[in-house]
Formats: sequence, structure tokens, C-alpha cells
Amino acid sequence: MEFKRNIIITGGAGFIGSHVVRLFVRKYPDYRIINVDKLTYAGNLANLRDVEGCPNYKFVKADICDFAMMCSLMASENVDGIIHLAAESHVDRSIRDPFTFARTNVMGTLSLLEAARNHWESLPGKYDGKLFYHISTDEVYGALEITDPEGVAPPYSTKASGSHHVAYGSRFFTEEMKYSPHSPYSASKASSDHFVRAFHDTYGMPVVVTNCSNNYGPYQFPEKLIPLFVNNIRNRRPLPVYGRGENVRDWLYVEDHARAIDLIFHKGRIAETYNIGGFNEWKNIDLVRVLIRTVDRLLGRSEDEDSDLITFVEDRKGHDLRYAIDSTKLQRELGWEPSLQFEEGLLKTVRWYLDNQDWLDNVTSGEYQNYYREMYRQP
Ligand code: NAD
Ligand code: DAU
Repeated sequence: MEFKRNIIITGGAGFIGSHVVRLFVRKYPDYRIINVDKLTYAGNLANLRDVEGCPNYKFVKADICDFAMMCSLMASENVDGIIHLAAESHVDRSIRDPFTFARTNVMGTLSLLEAARNHWESLPGKYDGKLFYHISTDEVYGALEITDPEGVAPPYSTKASGSHHVAYGSRFFTEEMKYSPHSPYSASKASSDHFVRAFHDTYGMPVVVTNCSNNYGPYQFPEKLIPLFVNNIRNRRPLPVYGRGENVRDWLYVEDHARAIDLIFHKGRIAETYNIGGFNEWKNIDLVRVLIRTVDRLLGRSEDEDSDLITFVEDRKGHDLRYAIDSTKLQRELGWEPSLQFEEGLLKTVRWYLDNQDWLDNVTSGEYQNYYREMYRQP
């Protein structure tokens, strides 16, 4: 069958990538979706069981740093679009092992850009109808200050902010803000963003970059705050809150991020940057309290029974104080809005982890890697 488009999604076996793959495979049966993923500790094909048999889906186990492989894939699959999510994504790991982050996030992105350039420039129409869409993070902008410790009403409201409609400062990350990354993770993502823009400015490659706030939802690796803490509360293990839990993050439901990616992939302006976020700021400690209440209620435990699991531990090195995204450009230009209120999204998420304890147990025990390692063993 001839497909209308052939799109590579990198990192499709990870948390956000799996939601993007699922959305595209189901919504666009006339697109061929090629999921290119190395299956690091964070990649898990069990995240995609419901679409793995679809005729427009293909999985390729590959490292984006493998330039020869990326060149060969671009040509053999006649790729016209790339949605690039593959990355090392956990800040704490980047503090322990920055080299791996530079390798994948910087050199891997460059390898993909060069492979796309080689292929697209060899075609008669060159860059016509092509797009390199790079997924980045709000962390590249650095940290914002907290000027209102109790929180004030923010200038904007979205569905995501729900009843807890609070801003902890008057400044927000806008697309024009200068980059100021602090962790090796955000420095590597900032560097990859610069490479992507440089490929537009130097070679005329059609690119778009988006910077999103903290995502939450099903299939997130349980090293990140929300799934880690849900699992710990379930198992009555300590909840290691960094510092005093005063840091602020802006949370967005992962399917709302995937919808934004779909919209921008099809309708975003070339060479533009779009910020994606929910105007949904939470202090970590407040979020942890809501998580405890939610898990306890769903497990039939008495209200706040597990509050004493909160354990304040040494702060993360270079811990950014506050992230808050201004996503009005995306709302104004493309009409995107979060669809879920935070309380609703969090309840759905907690319920998913509690209902999918096999998934959690497989991931925490490392069992998922043995299964897929066997399935995709190199010859
Ligand atoms: P994740 O860690 O859950 O998944 C990353 C995926 O990339 C995994 O499947 C992994 O196997 C794959 N991968 C890693 N190195 C690779 C390599 N060298 N070659 C091929 N595949 C490789 O990450 P996530 O949280 O889903 O984040 C996806 C993207 O979105 C990242 O680029 C991240 O920077 C960005 N982002 C994440 C968030 C968030 O809150 N999680 C927010 C904004 C932006
Ligand atoms: O802002 C977008 C970013 O969000 C993404 O680019 C990253 O890939 C993603 O990992 C996430 O980064 P954070 O560092 O904000 O997420 P994390 O879940 O690791 O931590 C959220 C907050 O909770 C942060 O302030 C650190 C704190 N924390 C985290 C862990 C894992 C704790 O207090 N204790 C913990 O054990």
C-alpha cells in the first residue's frame, strides 16, 4: 500500500513518544509511522501493545547516534517527516552521567539532522513537504523566581489549572526568552535546539521546535516524581522530597501534549518555536499531599493515612526553583487548549498506575528489558 506520508517518530517506546505514536497510528491510517527507538532503560514496547499489530506501524530498534543507520532508514523508508523525541530525559541521571546526555541529546540529534539533510537534499523537490519537528523542554529557559510564596491569580487561565489556579511569580517562560540551562540535561537539550535552528538558518531545512512543561500520565518511567511516588505510597515506602518541597512545576497531561504535537506538526509555522504548558503551577509538597490523598482514597485507606511517608532529603544539585510556561502563542495561533483539569488528569493517572500494577512491577524489577532484549536480540 502506498502511504500518504512516511514519518519517523524517535523515542516512540518512551513515555511521551508512545502517546504520540498511538495518536498518529490511530488517527492517520494513511500515514506510515516508523518508531525508531534504541530501547534504553526508558524504552518499553509494552507501552505500545495496543497498536503494534496495526498495518501502518513499524518498529525499528536503532540508536539515533548511528549515522549510517539513520541515513539508510531515511532513504529506504522514503521519510518526509521526523518527530524527534528520543532523548535521555531524567535530570538526576544527567547529574551522575553527563556524557550519555551529550551523546544522545546533542550528537544523536545532529546525526538525525545530517541524515535528513543528506536524504532530502538528494531529492528533486529537496525540502518541499518535509519537516523536522524537534521536541524540547521548558528547562532550557532556566529557572524563574518565586515572588509570591502563597501564590496569586495568574494572568491567564486554562482548563488544566482547574480549581488550583495559582501563579507563584509574575514572570513566565515565553518563546523570546534567552536560554539559560542549569543541569547537564537541560544544557544538552538547549544545545540540540540550537542545532535544529542552525539547520534551518544554514541549509533551509523546514524545522519547528516546541518546549513543553512537565508531563504526567500513564506509561511514565517510575523514576519521575508522580509514578515514583504513586508506587511508593502503594508499597508504603518513603517519599523522598528534595529540599523542602518548595520547587514549582507546571504540569500538563501527556495526551494534551500529544494533541499539541499533532496540531503543530500539521499547522505550525516553519522555523517557529511554540511553548506548550497548562498554566498549572504546583509546589512539589502540595502535589505530593494531593497524591497521598488520592492513592489512599483509591486504595480504601483512611484519609491521609500515609502522610508520614514524606521524607525531606538532600536537595537535587542545581535544582531549578520554578518553571512556568506561557503557552498563549500556541493558543492564539492554533487554538490549542489543554482538555483536562489537573485534578481530573491526576485521578485518571493514579488510577491507571494502580490498575496496571503488572506494568509497574515489570518496570521496577527490570523484567521488561529481558523480554524485549530477547525479542530484538542483535544477530
Ligand atoms: P523517556 O525517557 O520516557 O523516553 C525516551 C525514549 O528515547 C526511550 O524510549 C528511549 O529508549 C529512547 N532513546 C534514548 N536514547 C536513544 C537513542 N540514542 N537512540 C534511540 N532512542 C533512544 O522520555 P520522555 O519523558 O518521553 O521525553 C520524550 C522527549 O520529550 C524528550 O526529548 C524530552 O526531553 C522531552 N520532554 C519531556 C518532558 C517530560 O515531562 N517528560 C517535558 C518536555 C519535554
Ligand atoms: O519541565 C520539563 C521536564 O520535566 C522534562 O524536560 C524532563 O524530561 C522531565 O524529567 C521533568 O523534569 P523534572 O526534573 O521537573 O521532573 P522530575 O519528575 O524528576 O521532578 C519533578 C520535581 O520533583 C522536581 O522539582 C524534583 C522533585 N523530585 C523529584 C524526584 C524524582 C523530588 O522532590 N523527589 C524525587 O524523588
